[in-house]
Amino acid sequence: MNAKNTDFGTFAQDVMLGLNSTPKTLPSKYFYDAKGDKLFQQIMALPEYYLTRKEYEILESQHEQILAKILALGEPFNLVELGAGDGFKTKILLRYLVKEKVEFNYFPVDFSGSVLEELQQSLASELPELSVSPIQDTYRESLKKQEWEDGKPNLILFLGANLGNFGVKEAKNVIDHLRVGTKRGDMVLLGFDLKKHPQTILNAYNDKQGITREFNMNLLDRINRELDADFDRDSFMHWPTYNPVSGECRSYLVSLKPQQVTIGALNQNFEFEAFESIFTEISKKYSLTEIGSLASSGGFHVEENFLDSEEYFADVLWERV
Ligand code: AVI
Repeated sequence: MNAKNTDFGTFAQDVMLGLNSTPKTLPSKYFYDAKGDKLFQQIMALPEYYLTRKEYEILESQHEQILAKILALGEPFNLVELGAGDGFKTKILLRYLVKEKVEFNYFPVDFSGSVLEELQQSLASELPELSVSPIQDTYRESLKKQEWEDGKPNLILFLGANLGNFGVKEAKNVIDHLRVGTKRGDMVLLGFDLKKHPQTILNAYNDKQGITREFNMNLLDRINRELDADFDRDSFMHWPTYNPVSGECRSYLVSLKPQQVTIGALNQNFEFEAFESIFTEISKKYSLTEIGSLASSGGFHVEENFLDSEEYFADVLWERV
């Protein structure tokens, strides 16, 4: 995602609504401006951030089994990817399909036009024979429009634990959009971070190098830059928490003293009490039982759960019933 693609009015309005709420909150989608995109790339390479490596391992070691069901149909299909990003993990599937001379079209969907352009360029040089049709849109809007729909079977990818960044109710709403945006027999491959030792999870969001702290703080820098505000980042601290019951890892920015912040673009001052927090992100961790109920209540049948060797992460294959 990128700053260029964020409508100024929407950003200003979301910040206004979030900071006027009790407790204060800011939407995590605004992490991803040009700097946030770079920080997230660095997070994915951190020793503590196991998610990307574990999902890579699953796709690398089990891509044949993952794709077997859609390939067994023996007909051309559409591969749609929601939140395509740099395609780092998806390229494992793409390379295999191209090598096997499978007839398919790839539809990467992303909110960021610049991310899509980069992806298209890298695919044109790495896999020139691939048919790529980028779609710049949000997950939900793209599922409403279904620009890829041409009667062929669809395999929708929603990788990278992105669904975890939605609260439970919203995640169900995204699954509802997936059901409405697919037809009977279509397949969906979703990435979920699994419940595990709480310390392992907490460390992933509290790395020693402080990159995740920067990622969280960048939200304040972005509001300063784009909305003419005067947040003093040294007066806030990054505070990730993990609740093993709900599986919710929640990140906050905690005000270290009583302070007033002015946001010029909103023409408003915001008061912070000492140790008042801003809730900035949820990263929900799931059990396989919870994932199964999400599938059945959402109108999908679980075909197979693909796990890494330590059972940290799951890519689950569902069929639309
Ligand atoms: C993009 N998303 C799946 C990441 C996550 O793990 O929730 C975003 C992130 N936030 C902090 N570190 C990584």
